Amino acid sequence: MHILLTGGAGYIGSHTIIELDKAGHSVYVVDNLSNSNPEALRRVAKIIGKEVPFVEADVRDRKAMDALFEANRFDAVIHFAGLKSVGESVAMPLEYYENNMNATFVLLDVMRRHNCKNIIFSSSATVYGEPAVIPITEECPKGHCTNPYGQTKSMLEEVLMDLQRADKAWNVVLLRYFNPIGAHPVGTIGENPNGIPNNLMPYITQTAVGMRKELGVFGDDYDTPDGTGVRDYIHVCDLASGHVAALQAIQKNCGLAIYNLGTGHGYSVLDVVKAFIKVNGVDVPYVIKPRRPGDIATCYCNPAKAKAELGWEAKYGIEEMCRDSWNWQKRNPKGY
Ligand code: NAD
Ligand code: UD1
Repeated sequence: MHILLTGGAGYIGSHTIIELDKAGHSVYVVDNLSNSNPEALRRVAKIIGKEVPFVEADVRDRKAMDALFEANRFDAVIHFAGLKSVGESVAMPLEYYENNMNATFVLLDVMRRHNCKNIIFSSSATVYGEPAVIPITEECPKGHCTNPYGQTKSMLEEVLMDLQRADKAWNVVLLRYFNPIGAHPVGTIGENPNGIPNNLMPYITQTAVGMRKELGVFGDDYDTPDGTGVRDYIHVCDLASGHVAALQAIQKNCGLAIYNLGTGHGYSVLDVVKAFIKVNGVDVPYVIKPRRPGDIATCYCNPAKAKAELGWEAKYGIEEMCRDSWNWQKRNPKGY
């Protein structure tokens, strides 16, 4: 299939290009580079041995998107483009709602006018809010999102579901990602956060490489085995291959389909720190800090539906995730 990746220069998109190429699909990337570097695409090109067709444009730019669809016949779109920082979204709600909602509205309108009605949407475990059941299945009711970023994911899921309900020609796959970490094993592409990282793994790797003095562990008094927060970390290459599996569902005219993409294993903050130290033989100094507002104790999924229906399951464990995160960071201490 010929696939348009919006936001394809970003962390998950760049890894997904490689898996799509491996599976025999051709890709085209549109990205406004607001949170990415074109160097990522040059490095992906080296890995796959061919150029990655790319246009620098904003998905909200209807003219540019129209031109793109006029010039290409896409079979499906994987819609990664969006702003994703939780803390920033609390400080800049209007920018988050405006970017994430409008980009999706323009994209969907342009897609239907060009009769491309197959979309995979990057959703998040955040839509479950404080989860009603653990492990989280797709039937688990959505919860209250404590921040505008999460709200945009939850609202866009509703928009996409309404669209598919109104016009059965659409195939809509909502992929709810758990916590992607790691990097491609070659070590030339990876997560490249701007400024001080919000997420756990980039903070660990930047501490290990000496850019940060110590990791703050946000709370050790949760109702979890060691008191620190438990999450379902998934290797970004596994997450990327989940998109290839989702395309197979689209080829079978799945209509609306929702999948959790996680491993089904919960690891605490200290589990991750200890695994990282053990696998990589580097120190990660840490101090216990107060809980981070909006955090929950435990979040991991039941990935059985994706296995049963897509034949997809995560292959990598926490050791590989820690190894590959470090491999990327130590080879690229300043990112791209
Ligand atoms: P990322 O920031 O690395 O990639 C997103 C890309 O979208 C960036 O390259 C950015 O420049 C681009 N972009 C943003 N707004 C755009 C616009 N209006 N037009 C064109 N390009 C635009 O993020 P990522 O980690 O690769 O995440 C990809 C998607 O997955 C996002 O939608 C994110 O919300 C979602 N997601 C990510 C995580 C995670 O932990 N990384 C978890 C759950 C869901
Ligand atoms: C966060 C977002 C979520 C988003 C996801 C992926 C919040 C509240 N949630 O999830 O909406 O979909 O990222 O981008 O921000 N931790 C530390 N020290 C740190 C950083 C994190 O102890 O410096 C802990 C956290 O308290 C948590 C765990 O590590 O228990 C994972 O945190 P993080 O990587 O930020 O992911 P989430 O909070 O699960």
